[in-house]
Amino acid sequence: MNNKILITGASGHLGGGVLAHLSNLLPPAQLVAAGRNQQALARFADTGVTIRSMDFDDPASIEAALTDVGTLYLVPTAAPDRLEQHRRVVDIAARSEVKHVLYSGVIHHDERGFGPAISDHQHTEQHMAASGLQHTFIRNGIYLDAIPMLLGNALESGVFAYPTAPHGVSWAARADLAEATARIIADPKHHGKVHQLSLAHAVDYVALASSLSTLTGRAVIHEHIAPGAYEQVLVKVGVPAGLAGFLAGLADAMAQGVVLQPTSELAHILGRQPLGVADVLKAELARP
Ligand SMILES: NC(=O)c1ccc[n+]([C@@H]2O[C@H](COP(=O)([O-])OP(=O)(O)OC[C@H]3O[C@@H](n4cnc5c(N)ncnc54)[C@H](OP(=O)(O)O)[C@@H]3O)[C@@H](O)[C@H]2O)c1
Repeated sequence: MNNKILITGASGHLGGGVLAHLSNLLPPAQLVAAGRNQQALARFADTGVTIRSMDFDDPASIEAALTDVGTLYLVPTAAPDRLEQHRRVVDIAARSEVKHVLYSGVIHHDERGFGPAISDHQHTEQHMAASGLQHTFIRNGIYLDAIPMLLGNALESGVFAYPTAPHGVSWAARADLAEATARIIADPKHHGKVHQLSLAHAVDYVALASSLSTLTGRAVIHEHIAPGAYEQVLVKVGVPAGLAGFLAGLADAMAQGVVLQPTSELAHILGRQPLGVADVLKAELARP
């Protein structure tokens, strides 16, 4: 019976959150938690969920993990060759019993030229569409949880130097994205569609800096820096060149309004207001 639903990245934040919510919506016996890190998957051991090892770099492990699986939820990796990994998973799924693949990419329009931070998702979606499998695209806003990583030394210097996004960015809390994604997977009325999951209003970096100031009691302002200069700063502080280029491409995409498609879909699917900037920043800043 190919009625199992396999969640990749279940050892990670997004996939793990999706699986935790999904096991409240569907019988756990129908669910498969997949990833490489078996220790991280072990938290699902007592829930009735099946645990399988799956490495996107190992075709045999992908084939084995997809046994009896009719629905595959694919979480992107952060590997430099992730597009190749995603294509491999989709190709193997198309030759298996899988009928439907859902993918969590990022909000975009159809722009080109912003590097793999955007294009890996566009190309993965294109590959899914060409695979013959039923496909559902879940396009996520930028994680609010990732803001501390974007800040650099803003809390010490009082300056958040980042390429200006004049119209703001579509953001969302990763926990809300996980919950909404579980609801999308569980309900066939959401299948075969493109979903845009973010806060209903774009938030710009001036507002972000203002939230930071309020939460920390320290004055923080946003200052524009060109994407090329931002990349150089990252390299200077020790970020590997490839990753610095990836992050600068993402910053440029955000600056140019690529990750900007505010809709109320996230709130609608959750049936409540999503977590906002201050909610997530407060929790993140409280982390030791
Ligand atoms: N929208 C945004 O703002 C944003 C921000 C950051 C990241 N992302 C993307 O969203 C993804 C999920 O985010 P997250 O926070 O859940 O990341 P995470 O906690 O690092 O989880 C990544 C997952 O990918 C799995 N993975 C990595 N390499 C794999 C491989 N070779 N084969 C099979 N699985 C592999 C990991 O599992 P194992 O290690 O157990 O294999 C892990 O479960 C990220 O990977 C990244 O592509 C989006």
